[in-house]
Amino acid sequence: MSNKGTINFTIEEVVRKRYSVRNYNNQNVEEEKRLAIQNFIESIDNPFGEKVRFHFLDKGDINDDKTLGTYGVIKGAKQYIGATIELGPMSLEALGYEFEMVILYLAHIGLGTCWLGGTFNRKGFAKALNIGENQVFPIISPYGYAASTKHMKEIAMRKLIKADYRKDWTQLFYKNDFKRPLARKDAGDLEFPLEMIRLGPSASNKQPWRVLIIDDKCHFYEYKEPGYSDIFPYDIQRIDMGIAAAHFDLAVKEKGILGHFDNKIEPEIYLPKNFIYSFSWIRE
Ligand SMILES: Cc1cc2nc3c(=O)[nH]c(=O)nc-3n(C[C@H](O)[C@H](O)[C@H](O)COP(=O)(O)O)c2cc1C
Repeated sequence: MSNKGTINFTIEEVVRKRYSVRNYNNQNVEEEKRLAIQNFIESIDNPFGEKVRFHFLDKGDINDDKTLGTYGVIKGAKQYIGATIELGPMSLEALGYEFEMVILYLAHIGLGTCWLGGTFNRKGFAKALNIGENQVFPIISPYGYAASTKHMKEIAMRKLIKADYRKDWTQLFYKNDFKRPLARKDAGDLEFPLEMIRLGPSASNKQPWRVLIIDDKCHFYEYKEPGYSDIFPYDIQRIDMGIAAAHFDLAVKEKGILGHFDNKIEPEIYLPKNFIYSFSWIRE
């Protein structure tokens, strides 16, 4: 993958620094930083072989324009980045992977972001971003400087979805089969990459990532929440799986652990209800 040379942050620093910023201070991001973001985007890639397109929206006070609304979720933001794909076998995971790389880079350079998959006027933004009809447009994020306080709706939202809560290891990671949770102390050199997955963002903070370790392979599964993605023409939780892949990949690379992704080696094992195989990572 070609993005190795361009990552100039440490994964733990940015994973801990990032959180969803929904209140911005109305300031434009400096042109220099804008160019740096564009350069970063051009340098990244994903391990799933699918094309992800990024689109920038830069407009005075876009919150005044109803067609560019976010239902009061985002305030004071002047700039947005959107991502589109053509629906392919792994394109949602690819989008999750690349968009999270950008989100982490933005955190690194001091900018706030917020993944938006639901609470934005998709039609209005699609028009403003000039998105072609053959493109699927699942995600945008505002980017900019966080205001000094959170707005009321934001505080209420965070409480409702328990935004600061993360599931513990026993609910996410397994060894050999899904009856045996993997204890953190037994994870060896995968402790750090798995912990980086655990701390990641996900749609409505549902944390659908499950990882099963068998020998030298980590198999990634989605716990697909029944009904949750029904309002979309795609499964939004597959984007969360791409986020997990990004955190894991950055972490193993940082630690010098060699391996690669493959999405065609699903093990023949008993699967708990609503678990869906996503992809695997194979240690080299
Ligand atoms: C794929 C995806 C879609 C999301 N969609 C929305 C959204 O539509 N509106 C919103 O306010 N937050 C959205 N979020 C943000 C999550 O609610 C947030 O990441 C989660 O609650 C954890 O909080 P944190 O980001 O502050 O750590 C989304 C996150 C992801 C990963």
